[in-house]
Amino acid sequence: MVLNGKHIFLGVTGGIAAYKCVELLRFFKKAGADVVVAMTRSAARFMGPTTFEVLSENPVLLDLWEGPGSGVSHIEVASKSDLAVIAPATANCIGKLAHGIADDALTTTMLAMTCPVLICPSMNTDMYQNIRVQKNLDLLEETGIHILDPDSGALACKTTGAGRLPDPWFIFDRACALFYKNDLKGKTVLVSAGPTVESIDPVRFISNHSSGKMGYAIAGAAEKRGANVVLVSGPVSLDPPVGVTCVSVGSCDQMYDAMFDHLDQADIIVKVAAVGDFKPVTVQGHKIKKTGDQSHMTLDLTQNKDILKAIGLKKRKDQYLVGFAAETRDLETYALGKMEKKQLDMIAANIVGKSGSGFKADTNKVKLFTRDGQVADLPLMTKEKVAHAILDAVGQAIS
Ligand code: PMT
Repeated sequence: MVLNGKHIFLGVTGGIAAYKCVELLRFFKKAGADVVVAMTRSAARFMGPTTFEVLSENPVLLDLWEGPGSGVSHIEVASKSDLAVIAPATANCIGKLAHGIADDALTTTMLAMTCPVLICPSMNTDMYQNIRVQKNLDLLEETGIHILDPDSGALACKTTGAGRLPDPWFIFDRACALFYKNDLKGKTVLVSAGPTVESIDPVRFISNHSSGKMGYAIAGAAEKRGANVVLVSGPVSLDPPVGVTCVSVGSCDQMYDAMFDHLDQADIIVKVAAVGDFKPVTVQGHKIKKTGDQSHMTLDLTQNKDILKAIGLKKRKDQYLVGFAAETRDLETYALGKMEKKQLDMIAANIVGKSGSGFKADTNKVKLFTRDGQVADLPLMTKEKVAHAILDAVGQAIS
């Protein structure tokens, strides 16, 4: 979403991980960015510039004087860029960038760069840990350049340790994060997401259709805006957003405990989870068997704890509490009733049962109400956009 229409400069230097940057380039392009690739001569020994040229739909900057990209103004490229990413960044390139050396198309363009820069070091572990390389990285970081730590693992030089270029998806995610405002820096956001699951016997359970998408979108959005995020999640098939601490739970009781374990540290609590209101009175130790020609069975249920209500009662004045209300009708009446009963600061009234909104969908239709009477009727939009709109409203309310 944030990269649409942005200009990205992708600098590829001479490491075996250069091949991973083809995928990184494709992520940028798919997100709607215009990408100009620069390669060092060594990078061009690992990967053919034509691949990057075809996929970026732009000439590749290889040499300032001759060959492909030589007619391109590196100053123009630099001044147009919204973000520069160097991946993989070799020790040699890091050294040059740290000391302002410009002796090829990539480093010369970088010297003219005024936009945010993300450097992704990748090399042999001993090289990476070399004090000179570390000092150069510190120097770059001190001047506001973002450094993405390499992963640890098996390296191409047949050793194991720190120095692997992170997964292209991870680099892409961190690049996107640089485009968000850092308005939640220093805040801890506690989010609950997904369904709860109540066991009937060892093989059966009661649950609901929550996919976790809405809650995960809020956790991911808050992390990108600088917050420390704890996500308490029922069973879903989503990967936790990058940088978020995820606590997996099953039942309402487990979700209750996990939320209360992290409640004290939280500044903002967003309760998106679809919690089962009831659970079986007893969980059978063995699989329930059908008897004879039995045509009915009755399951005795008892009410679950209301986690949100308990948080509303316990929360401090400096904590901001957001609840969700999933409703199929009388949206506003039920939502306002829940805000009152559960002592919330804000409620996101979520129409469910209509296509494109609520459970499982990638989009959502939500109306926000605050305790002090603010109302925002958000249009149908992606859950990521809804998440940012909710965080904007929370940010406004707590500022
Ligand atoms: O996960 P997705 O597929 O993306 O779907 C998103 C969603 C539809 C689940 C989400 O947008 C949503 O509406 N979540 C609230 C679902 C719900 O349980 O609504 P409710 O009206 O039953 O509960 C109201 C609030 O009380 C919710 O914040 C809920 O987390 C909380 N609650 C409810 C019961 C209970 N025992 N404990 C609670 O904390």
